[in-house]
Amino acid sequence: MANVVEEIKSRLDIVDVISEYVQLKRAGTSLKALCPFHQEKNPSFFVSPERQIWHCFSCNRGGDVFAFIKEIEGVEFPQALRILAKKAGVEIKAYDRRMVSQNTKILDISRLSAKFYHKVLLESSLAREARKYLKERGLDKKTITEFQLGFAPPGWDTLLKFLLKRGYKEADIEAAGLVIKRTEYPSTQVPKYTYYDRFRNRIIFPISDVHGQVVGFTSRILPGAEDKTAKYINTPETPIYNKSRVLYALDKAKLEARSRDSLILVEGQMDVLALHQKGWKNTVCTSGTALTRDQVAFIPRYTKNVILAFDVDAPGEAAAQRGIDLLLETGLDAKVVRLPEGKDPDECIRKNPKIWEQALKKALPIMDYYFSLAFSARGGSPPEDGHSVLGRKDKELSIEDKKGMVKVLLPVIAKLGDPVEQDLWLKKLASDLSIREASLREALAKVKLPGPLEKRHEVGPARRVSQAQLAGERFLGLALKHPELGQKFLKGMILDMFVTPHLQNLAKAVKKCYFQDKEIKITRIRKDFSPSHYIDYLLFLVEEEFKGYASSALEQELEKLFRLLKKGYLSEKMEKATLNLKKAEEAAEDALVEKYAANIADLSAEMAKLK
Ligand code: GTP
Ligand code: MN
Repeated sequence: MANVVEEIKSRLDIVDVISEYVQLKRAGTSLKALCPFHQEKNPSFFVSPERQIWHCFSCNRGGDVFAFIKEIEGVEFPQALRILAKKAGVEIKAYDRRMVSQNTKILDISRLSAKFYHKVLLESSLAREARKYLKERGLDKKTITEFQLGFAPPGWDTLLKFLLKRGYKEADIEAAGLVIKRTEYPSTQVPKYTYYDRFRNRIIFPISDVHGQVVGFTSRILPGAEDKTAKYINTPETPIYNKSRVLYALDKAKLEARSRDSLILVEGQMDVLALHQKGWKNTVCTSGTALTRDQVAFIPRYTKNVILAFDVDAPGEAAAQRGIDLLLETGLDAKVVRLPEGKDPDECIRKNPKIWEQALKKALPIMDYYFSLAFSARGGSPPEDGHSVLGRKDKELSIEDKKGMVKVLLPVIAKLGDPVEQDLWLKKLASDLSIREASLREALAKVKLPGPLEKRHEVGPARRVSQAQLAGERFLGLALKHPELGQKFLKGMILDMFVTPHLQNLAKAVKKCYFQDKEIKITRIRKDFSPSHYIDYLLFLVEEEFKGYASSALEQELEKLFRLLKKGYLSEKMEKATLNLKKAEEAAEDALVEKYAANIADLSAEMAKLK
């Protein structure tokens, strides 16, 4: 196993892997980016090609390429291994059969089933009607191949038999969500099978994760078979398929979204297919459900601009249902495309691509859109292009109207992630309704955001590194990087000189190692201290900062840092002692006064020695 990991690491460059998710920019010998794990304005996410590690200075996450994949994909080690093995072209099975976990089997089963369904669609006489239907819907061969569309034959066990013959076990096929175990009293419809195919007589759309691995399926009923079952049937949640994490077609749309700097969000699979076929390859869909936090979290890696091409309702509950509040909260720029009454993008583009292009050009920023909706709902005529309504003054609005609009729009404004934007929209609302801004601001403060917005799961604001922390990081980093220089300072080193628990623990490990082994041994310290990537981070930090320093200059630097740390430590003690002295004086406790005064004298003597 260790071999596989090393093999994969040696074949992959961490920079390439991370570049698939974030836009890295050169910064000296390392690269930096906005951290994908929390919101920030200034890049604090660093990648060191030399050390093949990453670290976010702000949220303190970091590690090697495996740690990155685990974090960003939200997976455990075995799956990270699989993802990276695929990228590296390393065959896991050849190394260790035990690595073929159930997830791996499910992935294999899913990939194979997609292939099977696809072949059936293209070649089987059973799929004649399905082929005809897709043709009627305007899908060409290229799109069908690209999306690996398929057909599940009407039988109860077609796929099951195929997979059993390939050596897969029923339990694994069931875990993949492809067959259902019969639990009820045998119905007349399902006569003899313990397991039967989930998808029958349906058009199949394989669902891939962002890397293009098939993780699940959605399926559409054929026309004529309607009324009996749901129009769409999907894979249930499985160990590899979490529908709230996947955006359909993101694997195919991600690069285009980046190059066009926009992502089009539609509602249905058929819309995605139609738009891709016409060249709008930056399109994805949520499969008819509301956007989730996990889905939205993927988007900023590719672009900041999201174009919504589905029915967007008035703000309030409906908007929350759609997950649009998540886009606003994330600070993405969302625009809304409005299509002619009742049309979805698929119908629209098939009928006349020009209409689609027109609509896209006229897309309104979501806040403008909400404002115009709110105005038109209150007696204004529906907007031609939105802007006309926005300019309208409020002469005809009654007090009730205004109150109603504030009630609808204020919560939306409250959700905006960017305070500047929040301010601008508040001003606009005040002026549009001729309400004093101060009153609105007061009302805004009272708007209670619903639960999930309050408990943002990521770390809070970017860490502000204090001088003392930075000095501690540099000092220990240099001491680890250049033990022969660092060792000179260890005798006088006091743990309280370090201001964070990480630094204190590390200092402790360093000291312990030094006093036992009479030298700083990094391998030993690594064993004694966790998280070990913090050590890498410190090494990385000092390598960056003190590149090309001669050993004498480094020693001077260590000296300076040591003094700074010691001074910080002494001043803090001094402050405490002074405070105590004052208290003792007030209480007229002479003995104590004497004690603290002596204490302060000692401290200032020590302080003087530092200078
Ligand atoms: P067509 O009717 O073929 O044009 O498909 P569509 O994609 O336009 O479907 P529609 O607009 O009705 O629904 C949008 C999306 O919602 C679909 O692509 C599905 O992902 C989802 N959806 C629709 N109906 C169902 C259903 O009955 N069950 C489930 N689970 N999802 C559905
Ligand atoms: Mn449709």
